[in-house]
Amino acid sequence: MDAKARNCLLQHREALERDIKTSYIMDHMISNGVLTVSEEEKVKNEPTQRQRAAMLIKTILEKDNYSYISFYNALLHEGYKDLAYLLHGGIPVISSSNGKDSVGITSYVRTVLCEGGVPQRPVVFVTRKKLVNAIQQKLFKLSGEPGWVTIYGMAGCGKSVLAAEAVRDHSVLEGKF
Ligand SMILES: Nc1ncnc2c1ncn2[C@@H]1O[C@H](COP(=O)(O)OP(=O)(O)OP(=O)(O)O)[C@@H](O)[C@H]1O
Ligand SMILES: [Mg+2]
Repeated sequence: MDAKARNCLLQHREALERDIKTSYIMDHMISNGVLTVSEEEKVKNEPTQRQRAAMLIKTILEKDNYSYISFYNALLHEGYKDLAYLLHGGIPVISSSNGKDSVGITSYVRTVLCEGGVPQRPVVFVTRKKLVNAIQQKLFKLSGEPGWVTIYGMAGCGKSVLAAEAVRDHSVLEGKF
């Protein structure tokens, strides 16, 4: 991760280690794809809350910018607003012109979706191109005006996964959000 982010973590390490309970924070980071289950296990094996927090911070320090952003968001969403605020100044800036990763997602898209808490694709993922395109067209039709696109359907039919997929796109995000 960037030196600025790293320094910010190191500077506030003491407060973070003293106050955070790791389990919900790790759930959040695992769903963002920045922490592995075996890393989670390693943290959980520590005997005290403080040692678990220390192990999590140590693990994050060895990771990338996305992990920092995911940790920051986890703090924000899990009731540690004050601690998240301490880390705000260290949030790395990720340029929107960066290249694409292995699934064709730019780092800008990854960062924005990560910051917004948009879930990742299911591990086994069925593309629904026609529907995704239809939603993206509706978003483009808003042409800069505030508005909504409504996705409706039976419980569990895949609405949220579809909505997440529609915004997993550089031009949609840059132009509409
Ligand atoms: N395109 C897809 N490919 C693979 N699995 C999918 C896909 N869409 C949905 N699923 C599976 O179905 C589950 C439910 O999908 P999702 O949460 O999007 O439904 P929903 O319509 O938003 O449900 P709810 O009405 O409860 O909000 C997902 O967790 C995922 O496991
Ligand atoms: Mg849903």
